[in-house]
Amino acid sequence: MDSFKALLIEEHEGKVGHRFVDMTRADLDAGEVVIRVAYSSINFKDALAATGAGKIIRRFPCVGGIDLSGTVLESADPRFQPGDPVIATSFDIGVAHHGGYAELARVPADWVVPLPAGLSLYDAMALGTAGFTAALGIVRMEENGLTPDKGPVIVTGATGGVGSLAVDMLAQRGYRVVALTGKESEADYLRGLGAAEVMLRQDLDLSRIRPLDRARWAGAVDNLGGDVLAWIASTMEQGGTIASIGLAASMSLNTTVAPFILRGVSLLGIDSGYIREPYRSGVWQRLASDLRPPHLARMSRSIPFADLPATFDEYISGRAKGRVVVEVAGG
Ligand SMILES: NC(=O)c1ccc[n+]([C@@H]2O[C@H](COP(=O)([O-])OP(=O)(O)OC[C@H]3O[C@@H](n4cnc5c(N)ncnc54)[C@H](OP(=O)(O)O)[C@@H]3O)[C@@H](O)[C@H]2O)c1
Repeated sequence: MDSFKALLIEEHEGKVGHRFVDMTRADLDAGEVVIRVAYSSINFKDALAATGAGKIIRRFPCVGGIDLSGTVLESADPRFQPGDPVIATSFDIGVAHHGGYAELARVPADWVVPLPAGLSLYDAMALGTAGFTAALGIVRMEENGLTPDKGPVIVTGATGGVGSLAVDMLAQRGYRVVALTGKESEADYLRGLGAAEVMLRQDLDLSRIRPLDRARWAGAVDNLGGDVLAWIASTMEQGGTIASIGLAASMSLNTTVAPFILRGVSLLGIDSGYIREPYRSGVWQRLASDLRPPHLARMSRSIPFADLPATFDEYISGRAKGRVVVEVAGG
Protein backbone atom coordinates (compact mmCIF):
# COMPACT_ATOMS: atom_id res chain seq x y z
CA MET A 1 0.00 0.00 0.00
CA ASP A 2 2.09 2.95 -1.26
CA SER A 3 -0.53 5.62 -0.83
CA PHE A 4 -3.52 5.49 1.51
CA LYS A 5 -6.43 7.63 2.61
CA ALA A 6 -6.49 9.38 6.00
CA LEU A 7 -8.54 12.00 7.85
CA LEU A 8 -6.01 14.59 8.89
CA ILE A 9 -6.71 17.14 11.65
CA GLU A 10 -4.90 20.43 11.15
CA GLU A 11 -4.68 23.85 12.74
CA HIS A 12 -4.50 27.03 10.67
CA GLU A 13 -4.32 30.41 12.43
CA GLY A 14 -5.79 28.96 15.62
CA LYS A 15 -8.69 27.24 13.85
CA VAL A 16 -8.93 23.43 13.91
CA GLY A 17 -10.35 21.51 10.94
CA HIS A 18 -10.09 18.14 9.21
CA ARG A 19 -9.90 16.85 5.64
CA PHE A 20 -9.25 13.63 3.77
CA VAL A 21 -5.71 13.41 2.38
CA ASP A 22 -3.52 10.83 0.65
CA MET A 23 -0.57 9.79 2.79
CA THR A 24 2.41 7.48 2.34
CA ARG A 25 4.13 5.20 4.85
CA ALA A 26 6.90 7.76 5.22
CA ASP A 27 4.34 10.16 6.67
CA LEU A 28 3.47 7.81 9.55
CA ASP A 29 4.84 8.18 13.07
CA ALA A 30 7.45 5.82 14.52
CA GLY A 31 6.50 2.42 15.94
CA GLU A 32 7.29 -1.27 15.70
CA VAL A 33 3.95 -2.46 14.32
CA VAL A 34 2.39 -1.57 10.95
CA ILE A 35 -1.34 -2.33 10.85
CA ARG A 36 -3.79 -2.44 7.95
CA VAL A 37 -6.73 -0.71 9.61
CA ALA A 38 -10.06 -2.51 9.15
CA TYR A 39 -12.25 -0.44 11.48
CA SER A 40 -12.14 2.57 13.74
CA SER A 41 -14.92 4.15 15.82
CA ILE A 42 -16.22 7.48 17.05
CA ASN A 43 -15.89 8.51 20.67
CA PHE A 44 -16.86 11.87 22.19
CA LYS A 45 -13.13 12.66 22.32
CA ASP A 46 -12.75 11.98 18.57
CA ALA A 47 -15.47 14.50 17.77
CA LEU A 48 -13.96 17.12 20.09
CA ALA A 49 -10.55 16.52 18.50
CA ALA A 50 -11.62 16.65 14.85
CA THR A 51 -13.81 19.73 15.19
CA GLY A 52 -11.66 21.65 17.67
CA ALA A 53 -14.64 21.81 20.09
CA GLY A 54 -12.18 20.61 22.74
CA LYS A 55 -8.41 21.06 23.00
CA ILE A 56 -7.60 17.40 22.46
CA ILE A 57 -4.91 17.32 19.76
CA ARG A 58 -1.43 17.74 21.24
CA ARG A 59 0.48 17.61 17.92
CA PHE A 60 -0.73 19.12 14.64
CA PRO A 61 -1.23 17.84 12.03
CA CYS A 62 -2.54 14.53 13.35
CA VAL A 63 -4.59 11.73 11.82
CA GLY A 64 -7.64 11.41 14.09
CA GLY A 65 -9.18 8.27 15.58
CA ILE A 66 -8.26 7.11 19.10
CA ASP A 67 -9.33 3.53 18.26
CA LEU A 68 -8.38 1.05 15.55
CA SER A 69 -8.61 -2.65 14.83
CA GLY A 70 -6.91 -4.42 11.95
CA THR A 71 -4.30 -6.89 10.76
CA VAL A 72 -0.56 -6.70 11.33
CA LEU A 73 1.36 -6.13 8.08
CA GLU A 74 4.85 -5.85 9.59
CA SER A 75 6.24 -6.07 13.09
CA ALA A 76 9.69 -5.42 14.50
CA ASP A 77 8.47 -6.77 17.86
CA PRO A 78 8.37 -10.55 18.43
CA ARG A 79 5.00 -10.31 20.23
CA PHE A 80 3.26 -9.65 16.88
CA GLN A 81 3.46 -11.42 13.50
CA PRO A 82 2.12 -10.46 10.05
CA GLY A 83 -1.50 -11.56 9.79
CA ASP A 84 -2.27 -11.20 13.52
CA PRO A 85 -5.61 -9.51 14.25
CA VAL A 86 -5.01 -6.69 16.75
CA ILE A 87 -6.55 -3.72 18.56
CA ALA A 88 -4.80 -0.43 19.29
CA THR A 89 -6.45 2.25 21.44
CA SER A 90 -5.45 4.97 23.88
CA PHE A 91 -1.97 6.34 24.70
CA ASP A 92 -1.15 9.04 22.11
CA ILE A 93 -3.18 7.45 19.29
CA GLY A 94 -5.24 10.04 17.43
CA VAL A 95 -4.09 12.92 19.67
CA ALA A 96 -0.28 13.10 19.36
CA HIS A 97 0.42 10.12 17.07
CA HIS A 98 -1.34 9.43 13.75
CA GLY A 99 -4.48 7.42 14.61
CA GLY A 100 -7.15 5.07 13.34
CA TYR A 101 -8.80 7.29 10.71
CA ALA A 102 -6.33 6.00 8.08
CA GLU A 103 -6.04 2.83 6.04
CA LEU A 104 -2.56 2.27 7.48
CA ALA A 105 -1.24 2.85 11.02
CA ARG A 106 2.19 2.45 12.62
CA VAL A 107 2.27 2.35 16.42
CA PRO A 108 4.59 1.25 19.25
CA ALA A 109 4.12 -2.44 20.10
CA ASP A 110 3.31 -1.58 23.73
CA TRP A 111 0.09 0.09 22.53
CA VAL A 112 -1.10 -3.01 20.64
CA VAL A 113 -3.34 -5.71 22.14
CA PRO A 114 -4.01 -9.08 20.47
CA LEU A 115 -7.66 -9.44 19.43
CA PRO A 116 -9.19 -11.70 22.09
CA ALA A 117 -10.71 -14.99 20.86
CA GLY A 118 -14.45 -14.58 20.44
CA LEU A 119 -14.34 -10.95 19.26
CA SER A 120 -14.28 -9.94 15.58
CA LEU A 121 -12.38 -6.86 14.37
CA TYR A 122 -15.81 -5.24 13.99
CA ASP A 123 -16.89 -6.14 17.57
CA ALA A 124 -13.62 -4.70 18.87
CA MET A 125 -14.52 -1.30 17.42
CA ALA A 126 -18.19 -1.53 18.40
CA LEU A 127 -16.66 -1.71 21.89
CA GLY A 128 -13.64 0.55 21.30
CA THR A 129 -12.42 2.94 23.96
CA ALA A 130 -16.03 3.33 25.15
CA GLY A 131 -16.37 -0.39 25.90
CA PHE A 132 -12.89 -0.65 27.37
CA THR A 133 -13.62 2.29 29.68
CA ALA A 134 -17.06 1.05 30.77
CA ALA A 135 -15.49 -2.33 31.57
CA LEU A 136 -12.58 -0.69 33.41
CA GLY A 137 -15.07 1.32 35.48
CA ILE A 138 -16.98 -1.85 36.43
CA VAL A 139 -13.78 -3.77 37.21
CA ARG A 140 -12.52 -0.95 39.44
CA MET A 141 -15.91 -0.60 41.23
CA GLU A 142 -16.06 -4.34 41.88
CA GLU A 143 -12.46 -4.32 43.14
CA ASN A 144 -13.76 -1.66 45.55
CA GLY A 145 -16.46 -4.01 46.84
CA LEU A 146 -19.48 -3.33 44.61
CA THR A 147 -21.76 -6.36 44.17
CA PRO A 148 -25.32 -6.62 42.79
CA ASP A 149 -26.80 -7.24 46.27
CA LYS A 150 -25.48 -3.88 47.58
CA GLY A 151 -28.13 -1.85 45.70
CA PRO A 152 -28.84 -0.01 42.43
CA VAL A 153 -26.21 1.45 40.09
CA ILE A 154 -26.93 4.69 38.22
CA VAL A 155 -25.42 5.28 34.77
CA THR A 156 -25.40 8.85 33.41
CA GLY A 157 -25.17 9.90 29.75
CA ALA A 158 -26.86 6.54 29.40
CA THR A 159 -27.64 6.61 25.67
CA GLY A 160 -24.03 7.50 24.74
CA GLY A 161 -21.30 4.99 23.91
CA VAL A 162 -19.86 4.45 27.39
CA GLY A 163 -23.35 4.77 28.91
CA SER A 164 -25.07 2.21 26.66
CA LEU A 165 -22.25 -0.29 27.17
CA ALA A 166 -22.19 0.22 30.95
CA VAL A 167 -25.98 -0.28 31.19
CA ASP A 168 -25.75 -3.48 29.15
CA MET A 169 -22.74 -4.93 31.01
CA LEU A 170 -24.06 -4.10 34.48
CA ALA A 171 -27.56 -5.48 33.79
CA GLN A 172 -26.05 -8.67 32.43
CA ARG A 173 -24.05 -9.05 35.68
CA GLY A 174 -27.23 -8.87 37.73
CA TYR A 175 -27.16 -5.23 38.84
CA ARG A 176 -30.35 -3.18 39.09
CA VAL A 177 -29.44 -0.41 36.63
CA VAL A 178 -30.99 3.05 36.66
CA ALA A 179 -30.28 4.91 33.42
CA LEU A 180 -30.15 8.72 33.57
CA THR A 181 -30.64 10.35 30.17
CA GLY A 182 -31.64 13.62 28.56
CA LYS A 183 -33.50 11.76 25.78
CA GLU A 184 -37.08 10.97 26.76
CA SER A 185 -37.62 9.25 23.40
CA GLU A 186 -34.91 6.65 24.15
CA ALA A 187 -36.46 5.10 27.28
CA ASP A 188 -37.40 1.91 25.39
CA TYR A 189 -33.88 1.67 23.94
CA LEU A 190 -32.41 1.82 27.46
CA ARG A 191 -34.90 -0.70 28.87
CA GLY A 192 -34.02 -2.96 25.93
CA LEU A 193 -30.39 -2.87 27.08
CA GLY A 194 -31.46 -3.97 30.56
CA ALA A 195 -32.16 -0.74 32.48
CA ALA A 196 -34.68 -1.46 35.25
CA GLU A 197 -35.59 2.23 35.45
CA VAL A 198 -35.05 5.30 33.25
CA MET A 199 -34.73 8.75 34.84
CA LEU A 200 -34.76 12.01 32.91
CA ARG A 201 -32.03 14.55 33.58
CA GLN A 202 -34.50 17.40 33.10
CA ASP A 203 -36.54 16.08 36.06
CA LEU A 204 -33.63 16.62 38.47
CA ASP A 205 -33.46 19.87 40.44
CA LEU A 206 -29.74 20.53 40.25
CA SER A 207 -30.09 24.08 41.57
CA ARG A 208 -30.39 22.81 45.16
CA ILE A 209 -27.86 20.04 45.77
CA ARG A 210 -27.53 19.30 49.49
CA PRO A 211 -24.27 17.99 51.02
CA LEU A 212 -26.17 14.76 51.79
CA ASP A 213 -29.55 13.73 50.39
CA ARG A 214 -31.61 10.53 50.39
CA ALA A 215 -29.16 7.65 49.84
CA ARG A 216 -30.07 5.74 46.68
CA TRP A 217 -27.08 4.33 44.82
CA ALA A 218 -24.57 1.62 45.69
CA GLY A 219 -22.66 2.41 42.51
CA ALA A 220 -22.50 5.06 39.80
CA VAL A 221 -20.94 5.28 36.34
CA ASP A 222 -20.71 8.99 35.56
CA ASN A 223 -20.07 10.27 32.05
CA LEU A 224 -21.15 13.87 32.64
CA GLY A 225 -19.28 15.53 35.53
CA GLY A 226 -20.53 18.90 36.85
CA ASP A 227 -23.78 19.21 38.81
CA VAL A 228 -24.93 15.70 37.94
CA LEU A 229 -21.81 14.22 39.54
CA ALA A 230 -22.26 16.50 42.58
CA TRP A 231 -25.87 15.30 42.93
CA ILE A 232 -24.78 11.67 42.61
CA ALA A 233 -22.14 12.13 45.33
CA SER A 234 -24.83 13.52 47.67
CA THR A 235 -27.19 10.58 47.01
CA MET A 236 -24.77 7.65 47.36
CA GLU A 237 -25.45 4.93 49.90
CA GLN A 238 -23.04 4.20 52.78
CA GLY A 239 -19.84 2.73 51.28
CA GLY A 240 -20.99 3.45 47.72
CA THR A 241 -18.61 3.68 44.77
CA ILE A 242 -18.57 6.19 41.91
CA ALA A 243 -16.60 5.63 38.71
CA SER A 244 -15.87 9.11 37.35
CA ILE A 245 -15.41 8.60 33.62
CA GLY A 246 -16.55 11.64 31.69
CA LEU A 247 -17.10 15.36 31.36
CA ALA A 248 -19.74 15.47 28.63
CA ALA A 249 -21.65 18.13 30.61
CA SER A 250 -18.85 19.85 32.53
CA MET A 251 -15.25 19.63 33.69
CA SER A 252 -16.21 21.20 37.05
CA LEU A 253 -17.12 19.48 40.28
CA ASN A 254 -18.62 21.56 43.06
CA THR A 255 -19.38 19.30 46.01
CA THR A 256 -18.58 18.85 49.71
CA VAL A 257 -16.55 16.24 51.55
CA ALA A 258 -19.69 15.03 53.40
CA PRO A 259 -20.36 11.97 51.17
CA PHE A 260 -16.74 10.88 51.48
CA ILE A 261 -16.21 11.28 55.22
CA LEU A 262 -19.75 10.61 56.54
CA ARG A 263 -20.86 7.89 54.12
CA GLY A 264 -17.47 6.44 53.14
CA VAL A 265 -18.19 7.03 49.46
CA SER A 266 -15.30 6.30 47.07
CA LEU A 267 -14.76 8.44 43.99
CA LEU A 268 -12.70 6.37 41.57
CA GLY A 269 -10.98 8.15 38.72
CA ILE A 270 -11.09 6.09 35.53
CA ASP A 271 -8.40 6.75 32.93
CA SER A 272 -8.46 4.37 30.00
CA GLY A 273 -5.61 6.17 28.27
CA TYR A 274 -2.52 5.06 30.11
CA ILE A 275 -3.47 1.77 31.82
CA ARG A 276 -0.67 -0.64 30.87
CA GLU A 277 -0.24 -4.38 30.44
CA PRO A 278 -1.17 -6.87 31.77
CA TYR A 279 -4.22 -4.89 32.99
CA ARG A 280 -5.07 -3.66 29.47
CA SER A 281 -5.21 -7.11 27.81
CA GLY A 282 -6.96 -8.45 30.92
CA VAL A 283 -9.85 -6.00 30.52
CA TRP A 284 -10.06 -6.82 26.78
CA GLN A 285 -10.16 -10.54 27.63
CA ARG A 286 -13.06 -9.89 29.99
CA LEU A 287 -14.86 -7.88 27.27
CA ALA A 288 -14.76 -11.09 25.22
CA SER A 289 -16.00 -13.24 28.11
CA ASP A 290 -17.84 -12.40 31.35
CA LEU A 291 -18.17 -8.65 30.63
CA ARG A 292 -19.25 -9.09 27.02
CA PRO A 293 -22.30 -6.85 26.46
CA PRO A 294 -25.16 -9.02 25.15
CA HIS A 295 -26.73 -6.23 23.07
CA LEU A 296 -23.59 -4.98 21.31
CA ALA A 297 -25.06 -5.48 17.83
CA ARG A 298 -28.28 -3.66 18.75
CA MET A 299 -26.47 -0.58 20.05
CA SER A 300 -23.95 -0.23 17.20
CA ARG A 301 -24.11 0.79 13.56
CA SER A 302 -21.45 1.25 10.92
CA ILE A 303 -20.70 4.10 8.54
CA PRO A 304 -18.49 4.27 5.44
CA PHE A 305 -15.15 6.06 5.99
CA ALA A 306 -16.31 8.86 3.68
CA ASP A 307 -19.28 9.68 6.00
CA LEU A 308 -17.08 10.28 9.05
CA PRO A 309 -16.89 14.12 8.89
CA ALA A 310 -20.69 14.44 8.69
CA THR A 311 -21.17 12.36 11.84
CA PHE A 312 -19.10 14.34 14.39
CA ASP A 313 -21.84 16.87 15.08
CA GLU A 314 -24.12 14.24 16.68
CA TYR A 315 -21.49 13.89 19.40
CA ILE A 316 -20.85 17.58 19.94
CA SER A 317 -24.57 18.29 20.30
CA GLY A 318 -25.21 15.38 22.71
CA ARG A 319 -27.45 13.53 20.20
CA ALA A 320 -25.13 10.51 19.90
CA LYS A 321 -26.69 7.16 20.68
CA GLY A 322 -24.83 3.89 21.12
CA ARG A 323 -21.70 3.19 19.11
CA VAL A 324 -20.61 4.06 15.58
CA VAL A 325 -18.08 1.82 13.83
CA VAL A 326 -16.13 3.42 10.97
CA GLU A 327 -15.46 1.11 8.01
CA VAL A 328 -11.93 2.21 7.16
CA ALA A 329 -10.87 -0.66 4.91
CA GLY A 330 -13.34 -3.22 6.25
CA GLY A 331 -12.64 -6.66 7.75
N1 LIG B 1 -11.93 8.51 31.45
C1 LIG B 1 -11.71 7.91 30.29
O1 LIG B 1 -10.73 7.20 30.08
C2 LIG B 1 -12.74 8.07 29.21
C3 LIG B 1 -12.85 7.15 28.16
C4 LIG B 1 -13.91 7.27 27.24
C5 LIG B 1 -14.79 8.34 27.37
N2 LIG B 1 -14.61 9.25 28.36
C6 LIG B 1 -15.54 10.37 28.53
O2 LIG B 1 -16.81 9.82 28.87
C7 LIG B 1 -17.85 10.65 28.33
C8 LIG B 1 -18.76 9.79 27.45
O3 LIG B 1 -18.03 9.40 26.31
P1 LIG B 1 -18.78 8.71 25.07
O4 LIG B 1 -17.76 8.42 24.04
O5 LIG B 1 -19.70 7.67 25.58
O6 LIG B 1 -19.66 9.97 24.56
P2 LIG B 1 -20.99 9.99 23.68
O7 LIG B 1 -21.19 8.70 22.97
O8 LIG B 1 -20.93 11.27 22.94
O9 LIG B 1 -22.14 10.07 24.81
C9 LIG B 1 -22.23 11.12 25.72
C10 LIG B 1 -23.67 11.18 26.25
O10 LIG B 1 -23.69 12.11 27.33
C11 LIG B 1 -24.91 12.85 27.29
N3 LIG B 1 -24.54 14.26 27.02
C12 LIG B 1 -23.85 14.73 25.97
N4 LIG B 1 -23.66 16.06 26.04
C13 LIG B 1 -24.22 16.43 27.18
C14 LIG B 1 -24.36 17.68 27.82
N5 LIG B 1 -23.88 18.80 27.31
N6 LIG B 1 -25.01 17.71 28.98
C15 LIG B 1 -25.46 16.57 29.52
N7 LIG B 1 -25.38 15.36 28.94
C16 LIG B 1 -24.75 15.29 27.78
C17 LIG B 1 -25.74 12.26 26.18
O11 LIG B 1 -26.46 11.14 26.74
P3 LIG B 1 -27.96 11.24 27.36
O12 LIG B 1 -28.73 12.11 26.43
O13 LIG B 1 -28.43 9.83 27.43
O14 LIG B 1 -27.78 11.86 28.72
C18 LIG B 1 -24.68 11.71 25.25
O15 LIG B 1 -25.21 10.70 24.40
C19 LIG B 1 -17.14 11.78 27.59
O16 LIG B 1 -17.00 12.90 28.43
C20 LIG B 1 -15.78 11.19 27.28
O17 LIG B 1 -14.81 12.18 27.09
C21 LIG B 1 -13.61 9.14 29.27
